[in-house]
Parts: sequence; C-alpha cells; structure tokens
Amino acid sequence: MKTQDLESIARKLVAAGKGILAADESSGTIEKRFKSISVPSTEENRRAYREILFTTAGAGEFISGVILFDETIRQKARDGRTFVEALEQQGIIPGIKVDKGAKPMANFPGEKVTEGLDGLRERLAEYRQLGARFAKWRAVIAISDNIPTRDLVPIVEPEVLMDGAHTIERHFEVTQQTLESVFHALYAHRAVLEEMLLKPNMVLSGKECPQQASVQEVAEATVRCMKRVVPAAVPGLVFLSGGQTDQQATEHLNAMNQLPSLPWQLSFSYGRALQAPVLKAWKGEPANVAAAQQAFHHRALCNSKARFGKYTEDMETAKAA
Ligand code: 13P
Repeated sequence: MKTQDLESIARKLVAAGKGILAADESSGTIEKRFKSISVPSTEENRRAYREILFTTAGAGEFISGVILFDETIRQKARDGRTFVEALEQQGIIPGIKVDKGAKPMANFPGEKVTEGLDGLRERLAEYRQLGARFAKWRAVIAISDNIPTRDLVPIVEPEVLMDGAHTIERHFEVTQQTLESVFHALYAHRAVLEEMLLKPNMVLSGKECPQQASVQEVAEATVRCMKRVVPAAVPGLVFLSGGQTDQQATEHLNAMNQLPSLPWQLSFSYGRALQAPVLKAWKGEPANVAAAQQAFHHRALCNSKARFGKYTEDMETAKAA
C-alpha cells in the first residue's frame, strides 16, 4: 500500500468524535463473555451477536473502525452481505487481530508472550484481500513485585494489566518502561510513526489496590506518562478499556480530552467497555436485538462525546428515562 493511504487510514481511525470497537474476542474469550449471559458459544450465536454490533443504525457516526477476529472476518449478515461489506456501508473501516494470543512464557513464571509470528506474512496478505485495512497485535504485561522482568519487547498493543494490588505510581512506572521498549523496537524496525496507532492502557490503580485514584488523577497520570514516551508524530492513541466499567472508561477518556496541549488524538478502542451493556441487553434473545443495538448506540455516543471532553454523567440517566 502507498504510504499516503496508510497515513490517511490511521487519521480516519482517529477522526474527530470517533473511535474503534474491539470485537476481536478469540473463541475462548467470547465463550467467557457469553457465559455471563448464559448463551452457548456456537458459531451461529457468535455471528448473530456480531451482526447486532455491526448493523446498529447510525453506529458509523461514532465508530471509525472495528477490529475483527479470524472467524468473524469470514462471516456474513443474515441478508447475505459479508460483515466487511456491512461495515463499509456504515462508513466503518474493517480491521483484524493478527496475533494468536498470549501464552505462558517458558522460564518466566507469571509472564506471557504473544504468539503468531509464524505464517504472519501470508495471513496479512489474506486479510487484506478479505477487506481488512488495519491490524492489531497485542502483548500483555503483568505486574507483581518481581515482574515484569526487563527483556520483553512488546509491540503496538502493549497492555499493562490493571489486575493486582499495585498503586497507580507503580502502574505508571511499568507503563513508561514498556512504552520505551515499544518505541525503541519500532524505531529499530523502521516503523513509520505517522502510519501507526498506539493502543495503550490507561495509567490506573490496580483493581485490588485499597487506594483508588480519582478520575482526574488517572487522566493526568496517563497523559503525563504518554507525553514522556510517545512521539508527537503518532497520530493517535486509542485506549483499551482493560476491565474498567463502561462508565469509568468513558469518564477517564473525557477527563483526558479536557487537558490542555495534547499532541495526539486521544480516542478509544474498547472491547468490554463498549460491549458489556450490549451483552446484558441481548441475553441471546432475538426479541432483545433492538434493545441491544440501542445500548451499543448509547455507549458509542457517550464515548464520542468524551472524544471532545463533552461527556456528562447525566447522559447516562437521560438514556434510562
Ligand atoms: P478491552 O477494551 O476489553 O480491554 O479490549 C480491548 C482489546 O482489544 C483487548 O485486546
């Protein structure tokens, strides 16, 4: 692809008021999500659920791109259109998860390594031919007193987990170290910064930490950390939600976008924080499809407002009324 095309796709993905829906749950992860609403993870249920997300009327106003999973990029809507076509008709750019998941790393207890380099070249060519225009690679970094060890080279979606009892200061430190490694590696591989997006975690208190940072503290720590290590040439940061509630993820993004002098677009690429209310409304019942689409539309709208720092909590109650 011409350089210009890649840069223009990167910029479209972080267009004003828009962000990314991560709908690339692997078979194991979607099974876990479905279990929470007692729906069996059959291929048809997975297809029907993704159809709800991808055909929500008006979603293209708030959602710039969707990250698909290998199975999903090959599936179709009930009316016969491929999901890729259905998304394109909403003005949404299809993307694809290209890694094969995080596996336990030999000799490094508690740490994981992302698999999927074998065959990557061929998979990339096939995905592009199937219609994908961007790709995601995820690495996970777990925190405890003695990990992470210092010889990991995480790339592109380096997710420093919020699981654990660590403080926000420790999460800041590990996030900074991780992103330093990421940008060293990107430089060594001659990645063109204008053509990439970074999908980072926000800097948060560990889920089990007794001291939970406020929304303002999270926003300021995250932006301070990113400013130290992410070059301004990167067009945008598309945050993952990482286990925050849907409302927290929106509030944090909103507070960050109210801060002065941001060198990049600050956007979202949420999985759980966009989908949790959709699953809850759907429960696997065809009769609930409209309510599920309404829930998705509402969450996408709230995050779109947060892109401008214009989200307010009363938007949540306004929907309930
Ligand atoms: P969450 O927003 O649920 O963390 O998912 C984002 C993602 O793409 C994980 O790889």
